[in-house]
Amino acid sequence: MTEAAIYFANLRKNYGDLSVLQGINGQIQRGEVVAIIGSSGCGKSTLLRCFNRLETVSGGQLVVNGIDLSTPNLSAKSLQQLRVRVGMVFQQFNLYPHMTVLDNLTLSPCKVLRLSKAEAEERGRFYLAKVGLAEKATSYPDQLSGGQKQRVAIARSLCMQPDILLFDEPTSALDPELVGEVLEVMRTLAEDGMTMAVVTHEMQFAREVASRVMFLNQGVVEETGDPREVLTNPQCERLQTFLSRMNGLEV
Ligand SMILES: Nc1ncnc2c1ncn2[C@@H]1O[C@H](COP(=O)(O)OP(=O)(O)O)[C@@H](O)[C@H]1O
Ligand SMILES: [Mg+2]
Repeated sequence: MTEAAIYFANLRKNYGDLSVLQGINGQIQRGEVVAIIGSSGCGKSTLLRCFNRLETVSGGQLVVNGIDLSTPNLSAKSLQQLRVRVGMVFQQFNLYPHMTVLDNLTLSPCKVLRLSKAEAEERGRFYLAKVGLAEKATSYPDQLSGGQKQRVAIARSLCMQPDILLFDEPTSALDPELVGEVLEVMRTLAEDGMTMAVVTHEMQFAREVASRVMFLNQGVVEETGDPREVLTNPQCERLQTFLSRMNGLEV
């Protein structure tokens, strides 16, 4: 596949009268890690949710992993394909509390990919080791720290062997001392060449790991480019203001 992993042009999204995305353009190439930044309420989650069809778009073009999401009549087959190939990691982990870590990991591979239990468990253990939690297979989510839960959630996404991973503020629910371990796992994925779109307030992560930063403001992509450029020498005033506020928060 040579086309962009994600391509959007004049993409619009309204909730009733509220115009959240007002005709935005951009693309994410395969192997790219794009950090999506911007103030609370500017539409970051909305954009990410459009990428995997948790939201339908209101207008414009959106093609994700070769699937045209601009059409209101997406076939069930295409939607299924999209959901399998595009993973999403949420702020709140969304693990099943009554299931062991390993069962959380094998559920979708068994149900959706129709792997045998043994195959799914082998895969589950592989990705659990990848996120540094090999010894937690038989634990329950409640027995884990927030950082460990999020690493399990990432392993669960990896078990589907997706082409694209979307992260919506994956460290925002964590105690500060647990943020690093999750970012470290994400850094490893980036080095492995995973295509990632990451909504984050972690400017250091964006600077060190992202291949590109996209600054959303008032419904448009106001600035995008190399993180070292964009984050150290922002051109637009709103990004300058945003970054100085973020730096004020950073310890
Ligand atoms: N399902 C929804 N229905 C109505 N309004 C929504 C819905 N989801 C988000 N919004 C509104 O859209 C705007 C953008 O929200 P969101 O994408 O969650 O912002 P961000 O993730 O950047 O904080 C906000 O004003 C929010 O209140
Ligand atoms: Mg959000």
